[in-house]
Amino acid sequence: MAVAPPRSPPDRALKTGPHAAREVAAGDRVPASLDEVEAGIQVCRRCDLWRDATQGVPGEGAAHAPLMFVGEQPGDQEDLAGRPFVGPAGQIFDKALAEAGVPRDRAFVTNAVKHFKHEPRGKRRIHKTPNRGEVTACRWWLDAERRLVRPRVIVALGATAALAVVGKATPIGANRGKPLQLPDQAQGLVTYHPSFLLRVPDAAAKARAYAEFVEDLRLAGELAGV
Ligand code: URA
Ligand code: SF4
Repeated sequence: MAVAPPRSPPDRALKTGPHAAREVAAGDRVPASLDEVEAGIQVCRRCDLWRDATQGVPGEGAAHAPLMFVGEQPGDQEDLAGRPFVGPAGQIFDKALAEAGVPRDRAFVTNAVKHFKHEPRGKRRIHKTPNRGEVTACRWWLDAERRLVRPRVIVALGATAALAVVGKATPIGANRGKPLQLPDQAQGLVTYHPSFLLRVPDAAAKARAYAEFVEDLRLAGELAGV
């Protein structure tokens, strides 16, 4: 009996061919709701990262959350789950949020870049930092989430998020913990990326960075009134 070849998922089939232009156009429409952001991300072709990812990962959380957290991009587990910060970085983030007294369900959690950039190493998929072009392309979606959620406070987690949120390189060490005014009526804060906290080699430095991270989350919660 002949076995039918596996079918590509519909969005992959649109890589080329007559439908490509239509799908790009769909991704170009200014999204009017978070549902449209989610749908748009799945057909987005603004950069090439969709090609090797399982799916796009939109932000999630309260629709008009006073507080928004922006990470870098989905990791391996987020790419599979379709949800932000559910892997190892998400676990340390959740722990720090709990210590800071900030309920995650009062926040909107998203990423600067919505598709997982990675390269294969054996059976594993190793994270690759998105480049400036990819961050710029994907700001279309982050800016839409900002417009739709309208948070009072936006916290950038790590340098990639800081670039996306502030619009220019903003070194974390020199700028963390200091509120800065963003053009969209929101206050901005930059702090460490949770994965960075997992990688600090020296135990004392690691504990210090984690304590600073909790302090920054606490300040964010206070500024946002959560
Ligand atoms: N790291 C991020 O920046 N975002 C995620 O969603 C997961 C890991
Ligand atoms: Fe589009 Fe962002 Fe995905 Fe690039 S990473 S394809 S800009 S959603």
